[in-house]
Amino acid sequence: MYSIIYIMSSYIYIIFFKSTSNVKTRLCIFRCNKITDTYMKIQPFKLERYFAKYEFSAPYLLSCSDCEPLSQQELLAMANIESKKLWDELVLSYTHSQGNPILREEISKLYTGIEADDLVVLAPEEGIFITLNVLINKGDHVITTFPAYQSLYEIAKSIGASISNWEPNTKGNFDLEELFILAKDSTKIIIINFPHNPTGETISKEQLQQIIEFARKRDIIIFSDEMYRLLEYDSADRLAAVSDIYDKGISLGGMSKSFALPGLRLGWLGTQNKSWINKIIEFKDYTTICPPAPSEILALIALRNKEQILNRNLRIIKSNLVILEAFINRHSTIFKWNKPKAGPITFPELMIQQDLDKFCKDLVDKKGLMLLPSSVYDYPHKKVRIGLGRKNFEKALTKLDEYLTDFS
Ligand SMILES: Cc1ncc(COP(=O)(O)O)c(C=O)c1O
Repeated sequence: MYSIIYIMSSYIYIIFFKSTSNVKTRLCIFRCNKITDTYMKIQPFKLERYFAKYEFSAPYLLSCSDCEPLSQQELLAMANIESKKLWDELVLSYTHSQGNPILREEISKLYTGIEADDLVVLAPEEGIFITLNVLINKGDHVITTFPAYQSLYEIAKSIGASISNWEPNTKGNFDLEELFILAKDSTKIIIINFPHNPTGETISKEQLQQIIEFARKRDIIIFSDEMYRLLEYDSADRLAAVSDIYDKGISLGGMSKSFALPGLRLGWLGTQNKSWINKIIEFKDYTTICPPAPSEILALIALRNKEQILNRNLRIIKSNLVILEAFINRHSTIFKWNKPKAGPITFPELMIQQDLDKFCKDLVDKKGLMLLPSSVYDYPHKKVRIGLGRKNFEKALTKLDEYLTDFS
């Protein structure tokens, strides 16, 4: 008996041959379930795997996308008497699945067109996972800003959607004409992320309005990842939350980036569409069920002190930006960039002959400095993500300076 396994058109065929001298060759073919139905799971998240490898082992990190995380002590020192009482008397029970009503009331103050009941509290990454699972079906077409935080397209891909990338032009700008030509009859959703990870780019208020008008005419949903909102270097550049101005829009916000509290694992989705809110809550029963009780109170304290926290973070970013600009000017034969407009990250090009992944590996091996190469974004240009939100930025940059001196 011989058998071979043959794969064609996503089906596995197992073929058995039986051949003896006095019996005719017998052939049996079994067709198994379609591979895509049974075996295709989501691809590994390259950026997160890269961080998992180095975040707690490399002495210096130069690619973080959060702002210098606040300590619990610093945060609790900001609490007023009422918030402090909520913290001290907190019972570690299950919580409201939609999110603590007091917290949702506080979050809703960041918006003008949605209220506490239009919000669901969850972990930010969970918000992407649930939204895309609830809104996208196999065969749908999805447009996404690119390069992108991988889950923004990978989840849609795993569901069986086709993806088109909306990429910045050579000047680093996201051009609307290039977005509009990507649309098809089957386009279900446009995923945008401004301020943008990893470039720090944004669009104008008028451009956002034009995207919404375009989507409205074609009945396209807009999922807007606004994790870096409120960190615009000039507050005049702040875009409206899509959930405030578009009835088929959904916004993702959270504490991880702008509020320097990634360890809370707390964010939220906001939308005017009540049926989406219900579907998201129903889906969430299969992920985390309800938010973590301590994180909800800590997030409440942070939101009640938002001006102080946002100003602190913007101060760190802006002072690091000055240091980075001087560094890039000094190394203008190696680095080329479009200056970011918002958020704690930027994505300069590295004009080196060497393979970029090898460069980053050598850098972490020799200088203990972790730098994120563009390959983790599946982006073919030689770029690295530089994080501007950390207090030891200058020290970490010195390590890169030393390496480049040895390198040249
Ligand atoms: C654009 C974007 N959206 C969502 C997330 C997920 O946030 P969190 O890690 O807090 O779940 C990130 C994290 O880096 C991000 O950069």
